[in-house]
Amino acid sequence: MKRFAVFFLTLLFNIAAAAAPPKPGYDAVASAQPFATRAGMQVMAEGGNAFDAAVAVSAALAVVEPYSSGLGGGGFWLLHDAKNGRDVFVDGREYAPAAATATMYQDQQGNVIPGASLNGPLSAAIPGEVAALVYINQHYGRLSLAQDLAPAIKLARNGFPLDRMFHAMLVSREAKLKQWPAAWKVFYPDGQVPPEGYRLKQPDLANSLELIAKRGDAGFYQGKLAKEMVEAVRTQGGIWSLEDLRDYRVVIRKPLVGEYHGMKIISAPPSSSGGIVLLEAFNILSGYDLSHDSDLMRKHLIIEAMRYAYRDRADYLGDPAFVKIPLARLLSPYYAAGLRATILPDRATPSRDLAPVTAVPPESNHTTSISILDKDGNRVAATFTVNFRFGSGFMPPHTGVILNDEMDDFVSKPGVPNGFGLVGNAANAIAPHKRPLSSMTPTFLETPRGLAILGTPGGSRIISMVLLGALDYFNGGDAKSIVSIPRYHMQYLPDVVFYEPGAFTKDEITGLEKMGYTLRQTRPYGNMQAITWNYKTGKVTAASDPRDIGTAEVK
Ligand code: DON
Repeated sequence: MKRFAVFFLTLLFNIAAAAAPPKPGYDAVASAQPFATRAGMQVMAEGGNAFDAAVAVSAALAVVEPYSSGLGGGGFWLLHDAKNGRDVFVDGREYAPAAATATMYQDQQGNVIPGASLNGPLSAAIPGEVAALVYINQHYGRLSLAQDLAPAIKLARNGFPLDRMFHAMLVSREAKLKQWPAAWKVFYPDGQVPPEGYRLKQPDLANSLELIAKRGDAGFYQGKLAKEMVEAVRTQGGIWSLEDLRDYRVVIRKPLVGEYHGMKIISAPPSSSGGIVLLEAFNILSGYDLSHDSDLMRKHLIIEAMRYAYRDRADYLGDPAFVKIPLARLLSPYYAAGLRATILPDRATPSRDLAPVTAVPPESNHTTSISILDKDGNRVAATFTVNFRFGSGFMPPHTGVILNDEMDDFVSKPGVPNGFGLVGNAANAIAPHKRPLSSMTPTFLETPRGLAILGTPGGSRIISMVLLGALDYFNGGDAKSIVSIPRYHMQYLPDVVFYEPGAFTKDEITGLEKMGYTLRQTRPYGNMQAITWNYKTGKVTAASDPRDIGTAEVK
């Protein structure tokens, strides 16, 4: 039976792969900021490939969208190398400093200190983004690192006009950034929020980028910049050491691969929870023929699949170098069948009935995702972050680099929700050089019809957004439709379904409430970037989430 299943899956994958024409013939980029999208298109026009573009776009975002990601943060870059058909996952996630301890954000009574894992240098983990970009350039790029970083350096040095979103972020984070003079000086040059259209220059950041362009990752993890960062962090109560920086390495991993009715899903392995939760949800849904269900029934089943998959996230997942994750079991179709058997067609499953692993996720939108395809068929889906808006808010003087607050993605105490309302246990406890569990889910989808490249920010909601986007692609959607469809989300705890305006009709709301769901409408959320390539028509579509200011280009 099992062997038959494996044979059948392999066959399906081969059919999907065989259907792909050799090259798309177009370059495409979708990112959260127009200047970053331009940077990617520019390096490809100069002879770079999708990997060069990924480095250029990521570095440009560090300049034009520093509230979402940057050199002081980390993330995941999922690559597809057209030359050999291989998918590779570059884990540039931050790790905890060596002096970090499981209870470092608790007071003497064992209570979690509000905000301690979110503000200032003590909330910052050791950044991974620079190591990832240098690795991608060295191993996959065609251009030099200096060429890939050039657009970002220019944006930092010469400035760019402040857009509406950046302006809004500065308004919302004024009090946080006022505490840290270096950040304050850069972002509030006249002691106040600069107006939209203001030409924002970041000379220190330009210098830091130039140092990296010259010296590679040694420019960031050793030498002058490393010393400045460690000294500033320690002076302000943080615990970084020079060795923490020196010893940081990206981890190259095999992506997780799953299947849903013939659609191959290639996604993020641990230290992200994204791929596991996504594939577990798809495995549960595989047992249904959703196309024959009513809209209400389909949404009910999708929400239940989210609930079960997010529950397992809270229970089992953490950095695989520190915890043994029962991957085979969690991703087994039999396990999914067992879960599916407990889902009632007419009732919501109360999360408290599932076994305990508490909580209200705020709406935050900061983190960034990019999708890139080049003429030759190389692809990148990447999601990277400083965590909350402007991360820790802390900028070591003279560096121009905002440090992340990724330590909040750990469990400060079992059962106590983090900034995204996520709960967890010892699997995701803080330990030296451990990577905090992420939800970032850069993903490729492959079907006989074509392929899709997608990802989004949104904290805990990332995975459910990618699930809905993938289902939309499965049902025939193009890039625009994937990024636009209304969203809903359930993450086990809190036992609430969050939904955007338009995600449910009035009748569906009544129907879901009758089944026992608690529903809460939220503001629109997410900032998805997607590209699709249709093998039959040859059409490449790219789209940036209409909820935000990003752009997509195809050429
Ligand atoms: O890695 C994670 O899951 C989070 N640090 C991502 C943060 C995020 O998406 C914030 N944006 N809403």
